[in-house]
Amino acid sequence: MDLEHVRAQFPSLALGTAHFDGPGGSQVPSVVAQAVADAMTSGLCQRGALSATERRTDAVVAGARQAVADLVGGDAGGVVFGRSMTQLTFDLARTLSAGWGPGDEVVVTRLDHDADIRPWVIAAERAGATVRWLGFDPVTTELDDIAPLLSERTRLVAVTAASNLFGTRPDVAAVAAQAHAVGALVHLDAVHLAPHAPVDLAATGADFLVLSPYKLFGPHLGALVADPALLEGLRPDKLLPSSDAVPERFELGTLPYELLAGVTAAVDFIASLVPGEGPRRERVLASMAAVEEHEAGLLRRLLDGLADLDGVTVHGRAARRTPTVLFTVAGHSPRDVHAHLGAQDVNAPSGHFYAVEASRHAGLGDTGGVRVGLAAYSSPDDVDRLLTGLRSLLG
Ligand SMILES: Cc1ncc(COP(=O)(O)O)c(C=O)c1O
Repeated sequence: MDLEHVRAQFPSLALGTAHFDGPGGSQVPSVVAQAVADAMTSGLCQRGALSATERRTDAVVAGARQAVADLVGGDAGGVVFGRSMTQLTFDLARTLSAGWGPGDEVVVTRLDHDADIRPWVIAAERAGATVRWLGFDPVTTELDDIAPLLSERTRLVAVTAASNLFGTRPDVAAVAAQAHAVGALVHLDAVHLAPHAPVDLAATGADFLVLSPYKLFGPHLGALVADPALLEGLRPDKLLPSSDAVPERFELGTLPYELLAGVTAAVDFIASLVPGEGPRRERVLASMAAVEEHEAGLLRRLLDGLADLDGVTVHGRAARRTPTVLFTVAGHSPRDVHAHLGAQDVNAPSGHFYAVEASRHAGLGDTGGVRVGLAAYSSPDDVDRLLTGLRSLLG
């Protein structure tokens, strides 16, 4: 991966900001913005097969479903688009919980973003089902053993593929295997993992996988991926005249076609990060492996640099992780550190980032810490600017 070539494709990087805020939303390459703009003026309206306009619109939707399928190794017929991962998860929780009742159980983790917790907790409470909480080691941030929480009453396990607060990557395949052994479904939040590593839906073992294209160089929307046969058996709330086909059955109202064109461009952009030939899925895997390697190198530089700074505490030391680091600085609130760095055009935001259960469980309350997220476009110079900024704070 040629870092300078990659960076040159992001117009916003020319503004000079060192972006460590990728876990909140990545910067966008011009090919994605151009694809969104082009779609808006390319003669789209409603989908169908009877006119060129209808066929063009249909092709935009089909193209985006195939792009997301190629990104995660899924089936394009099982890709559902929605406003956000949060909205898709609330919708799915409502649909699945229609079949739950007293005696049924749902497992959520304290490591997850609230978008993979609260929809399940609310749905379980409405259905009279019981919520079982899976904790994690507050120091290492590794998930606890799920086995004691599982029984033949478990209907669903919701788990994260990577913590957006600490970067922890739980062994989701092991969790999924144990969940399946008792007949439970597995909902995997891959929002934070997908920008940092190759994702293979089958290897994760998940029944449902959710991600947010705006975290991986794309526009603001969410996607859910599942086996179409599983979706066939579910009955979400829908309008009477809207399509009952899968995956359309799960999509409320007219899709944002221009954003879908941007999703396809984002996946094509990822596939192009490492020059190569062959099917897009293979190029995505090669590119994401290169991104992982690039980010791992910068992560070492970052962690070594932070370790040299007196008063800086890094939270979490998971064996497998994304390059997302949470830290606090003795004598300075996370907000003050955030502001100090922001004044130097170094974006390292502070808070719990909606992983509020995780922040509380790790002893960081609702204040959280300062989050530094590396991305494919991050550079050694960015990391050095962050460390210089921290040194100037520490005096
Ligand atoms: C790990 C994780 N899950 C879920 C979400 C929610 O995604 P969305 O904004 O698409 O609802 C986020 C957003 O920050 C996230 O980081």
